[in-house]
Amino acid sequence: MKLCIALDNPTKEENLKLAKELKEHSNDLWLKVGFRSYIRDGNDFLKELKDLGYNIFLDLKLYDIPNTMADAAEEIAKLGIDMFNIHASAGSEAMKEIMKRLKQFEKRPLVLAVTALTSFNDEEFKKIYGSDIKTKAKEFAKMAYEAKLDGVVCSVWESLDIKNSTSKEFLTLTPGIRPFKEEAEDQKRVADLKEAKKNLVDFIVVGRPIYKDKNPKEKVEKILKEIK
Ligand code: C5P
Repeated sequence: MKLCIALDNPTKEENLKLAKELKEHSNDLWLKVGFRSYIRDGNDFLKELKDLGYNIFLDLKLYDIPNTMADAAEEIAKLGIDMFNIHASAGSEAMKEIMKRLKQFEKRPLVLAVTALTSFNDEEFKKIYGSDIKTKAKEFAKMAYEAKLDGVVCSVWESLDIKNSTSKEFLTLTPGIRPFKEEAEDQKRVADLKEAKKNLVDFIVVGRPIYKDKNPKEKVEKILKEIK
């Protein structure tokens, strides 16, 4: 299981400070860069993080027509990004087009599909997608697996089910992790490290329990020790 830290601090300076503080573990760590930092700090910021030796997960959740998504995927690969994601609801044609376009790269980024955003409740989700979250998440995962994507973003509580209906090698990346049962804050369905392990999760995403900790480095080392 790998640890991916969500760089959700409000400023570039704070995010960079954290990245520098954890540099000695950069080979073992992934950093998740989302909309806010990417829009504000752009590719220069990504390069600074890469230069510190980190693996980068660009969390932009692409959704568009297949050709436009493949164009974006190609540009992401050219940046040397290690992993990015798309919305599974963009469909299997878009997924296949992306994977076809990435074939030209000797080392391509991992591609994950977002199944269901955790902000949805079942009722709201059903209005848009026509079925409950659990059923649809599994269907989306199968679609992504058949289109040869590397894995999905899902909750810990769907990870095992998804692996059973695709493959144990099909990656699951799960946010909403409270490693040692820290405060859930706005996350609804949280899980700790033991539960993530039990459900065969490949990547855990942890934000606030690390960057809001008094000693983020100590916290990261404690997590790394636990998941090795
Ligand atoms: O601070 P916390 O550990 O809750 O951060 C989790 C990270 O994962 C945030 O960047 C959040 O936007 C992201 N995320 C999530 N649920 C999803 C997808 C992404 O919490 N379904």
